[in-house]
Amino acid sequence: MAPNFQSPLCISNLALPSRFFLAPLAGYTNLPFRLVARPLGGLGLATTDLVNARSLIEKRRQALELIETRPEDQLLAVQIFGTVKEELCAAAQLLQSIGVSVVDLNMGCPVHKVVRGGGGSAMMREADKTIALVHALVGSVKIPVTVKMRLGWDDDNISAPFLAREFERAGVAAVTIHGRTRAQGFSGSVNRPGIRAVVEAVERIPIIGNGDIRTVEDARTMFAETGCAAIGIGRGALLNPWIFRQCEAALVRGEPVVMPGYAERINFMVSHYEMLQSFRGERVACIQFRKMSRWYGRSLRIPKATQHRLVMLKDAAGFHGLVAELRIMTPRPETPSARSEPAFPIPSKPNEHW
Ligand SMILES: Cc1cc2nc3c(=O)[nH]c(=O)nc-3n(C[C@H](O)[C@H](O)[C@H](O)COP(=O)(O)O)c2cc1C
Repeated sequence: MAPNFQSPLCISNLALPSRFFLAPLAGYTNLPFRLVARPLGGLGLATTDLVNARSLIEKRRQALELIETRPEDQLLAVQIFGTVKEELCAAAQLLQSIGVSVVDLNMGCPVHKVVRGGGGSAMMREADKTIALVHALVGSVKIPVTVKMRLGWDDDNISAPFLAREFERAGVAAVTIHGRTRAQGFSGSVNRPGIRAVVEAVERIPIIGNGDIRTVEDARTMFAETGCAAIGIGRGALLNPWIFRQCEAALVRGEPVVMPGYAERINFMVSHYEMLQSFRGERVACIQFRKMSRWYGRSLRIPKATQHRLVMLKDAAGFHGLVAELRIMTPRPETPSARSEPAFPIPSKPNEHW
């Protein structure tokens, strides 16, 4: 059943402008991306990349860069990970003191370097310790604390319904569920009945359904089949950052979905590059933008040879030269192969490094 889109969703006492959230994709959904995606409209809440709680309290440069924000980058949750209660509480207090709206605790990350220390999805295996930690975390701050987790460690250990109920009792304000187990990594497809079981397990807190939403129809199905209160979109937003606006138009106002044109997509890519460059400088912007080449390659249906130049991007002149060529090209037709999603450079097995 779809939620009542006319009444705003609240996470604790925080009213959200929409029920369509940006799920964190470490290294992609960073501040420059958020600053160009937000003005497209429809985005209710974004979350930072996962930040190591200890690095944050030690004020390490990388951690401070990850929590960097701007007034126009609201509403924003900062996602922390770690295993030491005192460190997580201190990190949450630091975030509260600098005006962060929401603290999100990562319990979904499958990556070896996070899991081996007992963080990320490994926390789902140690229910008692994790529940005690969540109690302490909620008690340490006044701002809402949320949790993002998977369905469980593997098919034999589906702990999300139990944990979500316990977290609600501990005062957690909302829970995001990526509908896969840790053992699945990113393979297979999202398990919507699994998300529904979590929705049914809690009494009142919003559950945010996440995984494999690429179109407005996928969003509609996620709401209808799980009863979730909001949705989180990660990879689908890289491919189509207009998806939040499209969901709002179609699901809230019953309007038709308007797809952005070729020129609009190119303009977005240029704004994204320029935003990255203004934050990180030309050299780092080029290196970071290379990762986006598959996604722009797919969304703009760029010929392979041109995409290859984007992968090898060296300087701003190269980028703008390529854009000038793209502007006079006729986009390739939507063939089934052009429709296939780019493979993400994510671990193929859950215990590999990013
Ligand atoms: C490259 C990459 C980085 C990710 N980084 C994070 C992260 O920092 N924190 C987190 O909770 N989830 C992270 N995720 C998981 C996503 O937030 C999301 O749960 C998952 O991709 C499924 O949603 P999607 O199909 O909409 O992308 C990451 C996923 C990918 C592919």
